[in-house]
Amino acid sequence: MAKEGADMTEETEYMIDRNAGKEAASVESPSNAKEMRAVVLAGFGGLNKLRVTRKAMPEPQDGEVKIRVKACGLNFLDLMVRQGNIDNPPKTPLVPGFECCGIVESVGENTQGFEIGDRVMAFMNYNAWAEVVCTPVDFVYKMPDEMMFAEAAAFSLNFVAAYMMLFEVASLREGMSVLVHSAGGAVGQAVAQLCSTVPNVTVFGIASCFKHASIKDSVTHLFDRNTDYIQEVKKISPDGVDIVLDCLCGENTGKSLSLLKPLGTYILYGASNMVTGETKSFFSFAKSWWQVEKVNPIKLYEENKVIAGFSLLNLLFKQGGCNLVKSVMDKLLSLYKQKKIRPLVDSLWALEEVKEAMQRIHDRGNIGKLILDVEKSPTPLMANDSTETSEAGEEEEEAEGDNDSKERMPFIH
Ligand SMILES: NC(=O)c1ccc[n+]([C@@H]2O[C@H](COP(=O)([O-])OP(=O)(O)OC[C@H]3O[C@@H](n4cnc5c(N)ncnc54)[C@H](OP(=O)(O)O)[C@@H]3O)[C@@H](O)[C@H]2O)c1
Repeated sequence: MAKEGADMTEETEYMIDRNAGKEAASVESPSNAKEMRAVVLAGFGGLNKLRVTRKAMPEPQDGEVKIRVKACGLNFLDLMVRQGNIDNPPKTPLVPGFECCGIVESVGENTQGFEIGDRVMAFMNYNAWAEVVCTPVDFVYKMPDEMMFAEAAAFSLNFVAAYMMLFEVASLREGMSVLVHSAGGAVGQAVAQLCSTVPNVTVFGIASCFKHASIKDSVTHLFDRNTDYIQEVKKISPDGVDIVLDCLCGENTGKSLSLLKPLGTYILYGASNMVTGETKSFFSFAKSWWQVEKVNPIKLYEENKVIAGFSLLNLLFKQGGCNLVKSVMDKLLSLYKQKKIRPLVDSLWALEEVKEAMQRIHDRGNIGKLILDVEKSPTPLMANDSTETSEAGEEEEEAEGDNDSKERMPFIH
């Protein structure tokens, strides 16, 4: 059973002990272990493509650290990867996951700046959802002493993306207004918190209605995702807004552009609308693509509008942006230490519970971030599940796409 994040206090700290350090590294990690547990995506598709299996223990190369993982972040992007709903998908089988945190267990040759026992968080180009990972130090950051592992796993991707969009791309300043979709999600809450560090910023948040009571204090105005948000915003601010952060794409692109004030900035950073069912829907993909307003630069020039795109993972892993991201991380950790920002954790899940965790995002149930807690035991329900041992087989292929049966599974949160 997952532990809800709203009152994530003593038990969570017990499960992911923030004081774990050098002693823990030596006790829990026999250096001669040849294998480790990892989540594996056997092929693109539904939840049944995920399983926990044993893999060879990785060893650090030149310039890398080996991390005994405590917790991993589960992002909306991981759903899209599972479905194969991304550009240039890598080959399967693969270990998913783009971020994790834990304790440095060993360092490769010529590795500077880190030593055994350091508590760290890291970006990974896949392979994060495992008991042990190895990664170049370019993507590794030391955790503040007071930060818990659950917080660290909820920190990097969301806060760095939110910070770079607001401050590097859109130049957020005092008195501006920002519209953010999925305001109750992990990035949405990071955006809301970062906006609150600048005086007099108005945040228009859009989220499913049941989240409103929990997140109403984090934004200035909150709208149900099913309302006509263009009309609602214009009732309050007839001129529109300065910044629109769009993670939905499709029809929202045109709507968002119509909401921009002169010199306003629209940033596309996701395509959540492409996810409809459990598996990739070519109809949703085509609809989203078709609905995106085709923009003529001459119209932008006449209307004084800015259109931008942002992908943190591309910046980090394809475009050499690690030094820029490091400087952003320094600023964010400073804000964290000043208690100006703090990641909101929705719930913690064992690796074996990854399917239920993903289903929670599919169902729009999360408020804040879902965490895979590597040391957490699965629920009794999952302990009897066949995921750990089964191979991809005919029965599973038949089950793929059977969304109804998945939705009726008795998940207890
Ligand atoms: N470009 C980048 O660098 C970058 C980095 C991180 C994340 N992202 C993007 O930012 C967005 C949010 O990511 P996140 O990881 O923070 O996730 P999240 O917001 O925590 O994700 C779940 C929420 O998204 C909303 N949602 C919108 N469309 C949905 C759909 N089709 N199915 C299910 N939920 C949907 C739901 O909230 P409501 O029902 O309340 O709307 C849901 O609770 C995603 O599009 C992701 O790809 C981009």
